[in-house]
Amino acid sequence: MRCKIDYLPSGDLLADRVILVTGAGDGIGRTAALSFARHGATVILLGRTIAKLEAVYDEIEAEGLPQPAIFPLNFEGASLKDFHDMAETLDKEFGRLDGILHNAGLLGRITPFEQYNPELWEQVMQVNINGPIWMTQALLPLLTASKDASVIFTSSSVGRRGRAYWGAYAVSKFATEGFVEVLADEVEHLGSLRVNSLNPGATRTAMRKTAYPAEDPMTLRTPEAIMPTYLWLMGPDSRGHNGEKFDAQPAVS
Ligand SMILES: NC(=O)c1ccc[n+]([C@@H]2O[C@H](COP(=O)([O-])OP(=O)(O)OC[C@H]3O[C@@H](n4cnc5c(N)ncnc54)[C@H](OP(=O)(O)O)[C@@H]3O)[C@@H](O)[C@H]2O)c1
Repeated sequence: MRCKIDYLPSGDLLADRVILVTGAGDGIGRTAALSFARHGATVILLGRTIAKLEAVYDEIEAEGLPQPAIFPLNFEGASLKDFHDMAETLDKEFGRLDGILHNAGLLGRITPFEQYNPELWEQVMQVNINGPIWMTQALLPLLTASKDASVIFTSSSVGRRGRAYWGAYAVSKFATEGFVEVLADEVEHLGSLRVNSLNPGATRTAMRKTAYPAEDPMTLRTPEAIMPTYLWLMGPDSRGHNGEKFDAQPAVS
């Protein structure tokens, strides 16, 4: 598992690329959307809280970066039709997709399995794996229309080695790793589309605070600090890497 924390991206690394970021209103997704835009990308901001997406949109616009787009979507209630409508809209607007950062995620509860609520389990699986999988299926024609597309699925250390009490969250991340291997193998022959998994590692966000309430957030890397690996994996310098696992920081927990 590799990490590219020392990567120095060129300013125009993502110029002319159309990149969809899920969970773009907060945490790592918000920072990634801003960072991709600052490196030249046209970003599509997807999330469930429109006010948060609008704030990111305004920030991108205020900096004079390529005009973004907002796509409100809640993975919990989203249907196959929603994903296909989305694909149709993006096709009309952009004609292709050069990248997806699957970042939206739900922690669920950290609790002994015997107490895990089945409805919450379903909810976490829907947001973290089922929704993103069917969205990816709907968007495949747009990804294959790109000369060089990168799909990044966000994983976690508990998706690579199971840990007590992490329940549906850990299982959804294991499923994510499995899906990355399956899809990467299927698209390998194309040469123009790569699918990889990326574990951000312990990062200063609201989700981390919920998972580790007693931890001092100032001891953690910020989302900004982990962007080099995100940029490397989204941009052309990672061409040829497919079906691999990456870490965004050297020490993960
Ligand atoms: N932070 C860490 O230490 C860490 C470590 C390992 C892995 N990760 C992974 O990194 C990714 C980002 O995490 P984060 O720490 O940045 O978490 P975060 O601050 O909680 O952000 C999660 C994002 O996902 C969105 N989201 C949640 N449920 C959604 C739904 N049903 N439909 C659409 N969007 C939804 C949230 O939208 P709202 O803002 O509208 O709620 C938010 O924008 C996640 O996949 C997480 O599992 C994080």
